[in-house]
Parts: sequence; C-alpha cells; structure tokens
Amino acid sequence: MTKSPFILSIAGGGSTYTPGIVKSLMVRLEDFPLSEIRLYDIDQERQDTIAPVVEKVIRDHSDTIKFTVTTDAKTAFDGAHFVFAQMRVGQYKMREQDEKIPLRHGVVGQETCGPGGLAYGLRTILPMVELIDLVEEYASPKAWIVNYSNPAAIVAEGVRRLRPNARVLNICDMPVAAMRNMAAVLNVDRHDLDVDYFGLNHFGWFTSVRVKGEEKLPELREHIAKFGLLTEDAAQTDPQHSDPSWVKTWRHIQPLMEAFPEYIPNPYLQYYLMPNYIVEHQDPDYTRANEVMDGREKRLFEAAREYKETGILPDAFHVGVHGAFIVDVACSLAFDLRQRHLVIVENKGAIADLPYDAMVEVPAYITSHGPEPIRVGDIPRFHRTLLEQQLASEQLLVEATLEGSYEKALEAFTLNKTVPSVIHAKKILDDMIEANREYWPELRKAYVNGK
Ligand code: G6P
Ligand code: MN
Repeated sequence: MTKSPFILSIAGGGSTYTPGIVKSLMVRLEDFPLSEIRLYDIDQERQDTIAPVVEKVIRDHSDTIKFTVTTDAKTAFDGAHFVFAQMRVGQYKMREQDEKIPLRHGVVGQETCGPGGLAYGLRTILPMVELIDLVEEYASPKAWIVNYSNPAAIVAEGVRRLRPNARVLNICDMPVAAMRNMAAVLNVDRHDLDVDYFGLNHFGWFTSVRVKGEEKLPELREHIAKFGLLTEDAAQTDPQHSDPSWVKTWRHIQPLMEAFPEYIPNPYLQYYLMPNYIVEHQDPDYTRANEVMDGREKRLFEAAREYKETGILPDAFHVGVHGAFIVDVACSLAFDLRQRHLVIVENKGAIADLPYDAMVEVPAYITSHGPEPIRVGDIPRFHRTLLEQQLASEQLLVEATLEGSYEKALEAFTLNKTVPSVIHAKKILDDMIEANREYWPELRKAYVNGK
C-alpha cells in the first residue's frame, strides 16, 4: 500500500533545531512521506537566514517536496497534516534573562527548571494557545501538533486547561537522550532498550531498563558510580548534549544516584536536588544561553553565510535523537503504530497516587487517536512528594498566567524546590516582571496597601 504524502509545517522555523529535524525527516521519507515542508516563524529575518540551509537539506534528498517559507499563518497551516511546534518566546535573549536573574539572587538559573522555567512558562502559554487556534482554523481537521516547545510541563498544563480537546502531543527529548547514553554504555542500539519511567517533564526517574527482557539497571549503576551517565566518546554518542555544561550534567547523575541508587534520575533533577552545588559551580555571567549563542547558533548562522557565499554547506547542525524522536512519534501517530514512547500525557490514573488530570511523563502507546498512557501504579512516598510539590508549583504558575495573579505567581516561585525562601522568590519575581514587560500578562496584586 502506498502512503499518501503529508504536508508538514514547522512552527518556529527559525530555530537552530530546524535543519536537524528536517534532515531526520529526509532519512525517513519512506516511513513518513512528505509532499511539502513549510517553515513558519514570526521572526522573518531569522527564518530567512536559516531557510536556504533547510532547502539544501531537502534538495539533497528530494526534488519533489515543495518548500515554503512564510510568516503568514494561513499559508503555513492551510491543509497541513502535521505541525511540529518548537517556539521559543523571547528567543535566546530572554533565555539569558531567565538564567541570569535567579543567579543574581544565588538561585538556580535554568531554561526550564526553577524561576527561569516559570518565567518562560508565563511567556509561552498564551502564544502556544494562539498557535493551536491558528492550526485549528486552517489545518486539516485531523492534523496533529507535535510539540517540543518549552517549558513543556507548563505548556502542557496550560493547553490542557485552555484547549482540552486540542490534538497536541507534548514531547521532550531528554528521556530519549538519556536512553541513547544508556545504550552507549550497554553497547546496544537505543531502540533495543525497553524502559519504565515515571514523573513530570524534566522531573522523573527510570525504574527499569531492559534489553531483551534482561534488567540492566545493575550494570548501569556500576557505570554511573564511576562516570555518571556518560561514555568516553560523549561527543560521538551525543552531538547535541556534549558541550561542557552538558558533560557536567551527565556526570551529576553519579552523585544523585550515590544518594538514591534505586532509579536513574532525569538529569534535570540536579537542579532540584542539589541546587546550591549547581549555583556554586556556575558562572553567573556566562550561562547556557551564552554557550548556545556562541556555539550552536553561531555555527548555524556561519554555515548559512558560507553556503550563501560559496554554495557549499558545512555540516553545522546535528541529526541526533532530537530529530529522530519527533519523527518516530509522528510516524506512530500517522499510521497508528502504537509504539511505546515516553511522552507528556494527562495522567488518567497511570501514576495511581498522582491527580487524575496531572500532566505526567510516562510511557504511552502512540496511536492515531493520540497517546494511551501505560499504567505505572503506585510510586514511593519520596518521589511522590517531590512530584506533588513540583506539580503544585507548575499548576500555580499556569493559574497565575490565566488569572493575572501576582500572588499565585509568588506561590509558584516559593513552592519551587530550587528556591530557598519567599524572600528569594519575591526578589526574583519582581526582577522578572521588569525583564518580561513585553511578554507576560499583567500580574495584579489582590491586596494593595493592606486592602
Ligand atoms: C534537552 C531538553 C530540552 C532543552 C534542551 C536544551 O534536550 O529536553 O527541553 O530545551 O535540552 O538544550 P540546549 O543545548 O539548548 O541547552
Ligand atoms: Mn525537554
């Protein structure tokens, strides 16, 4: 049976990830046939800079796929079958603020964790809903949005509340990046791993890692005790997560597991479980945003310039798990493959003792009707309590955004485990309100001058 080809739109076409995602699509055309790829972005200049690189990647594989670059939503989504969303509201300039403002107050400064992630959430929820509405207006009624936009946990919760029936599947490449490293340690292909996992996005644990039915946690524990979740050739196994700060992050799995050896933590747990150590070992004036702007982004812009001038495209982008994973998920949605992937879904009882409607990250079968979460059952008190606190922080942030409530935002910041006190929370929130004037909804105080 021949499959009829899809129209795919990439929202956030100007992202540094676009060429890698498109390359992943090109090597999978037999599984996921395409008639057209459309790039959509609100930043025309940025998207136009990257578009020729993307076009070249397409033309290296296909003469027939139509390529469209647009800032117009109708042109972007009209009749589309799939939308890959990867918006970054405020771009790297605001990521830098998310990271540096908390650090000025001695608190973790990170893209998606702690106050930085909460700030990013306040910027992203409403634009994400706008995007969903545009897709629903123009795209095929059965179109799926596969969403990488961060902070994924908060975005997922915002979308659940505002557009509960939207055909959006929220995903994250962190579990699959960890699995790729585990596979490298075990010397197998990552597709041979069969894992159990529970948590929230950027906040969870692998509870079992099997190869052909055999439990590999003991072998992984042994490796992690010596090296963290990293092999010697990290750059080879993991072209994306191989900058110095990522190498450090993979190493930190070691102290996390020395304390709690039972499960393998998501690397992002370092920010919640050892926040002061992270802050002490970080340069507050040169954060990950700087590393990305001076690295991945610069390399891509330089490659685009070189390609324009010489017609030769240097290999400046990586085709890693990030691209491969979104294509896997899209295939499973498109053809009802019912593959088992770790995705962000409404709990619906999968984790028995977390709320029914919490947006959790667990294994799910990806069907053409969406994800069907797989039952995890009860979880230990320690993990459950951490998860409940994080969930409350994220849910309050969503409520703060929707209600324009300063108090709820302050509660969200205060409840976050990276934040040591309400004094820190308030100072950071107030600085962030200043820095995000262009982006945040207004946050009003319920009690002004004691009234
Ligand atoms: C992982 C996470 C993403 C995050 C990215 C940041 O892949 O899953 O959610 O955006 O790391 O990577 P970067 O290289 O931009 O620091
Ligand atoms: Mn992620």
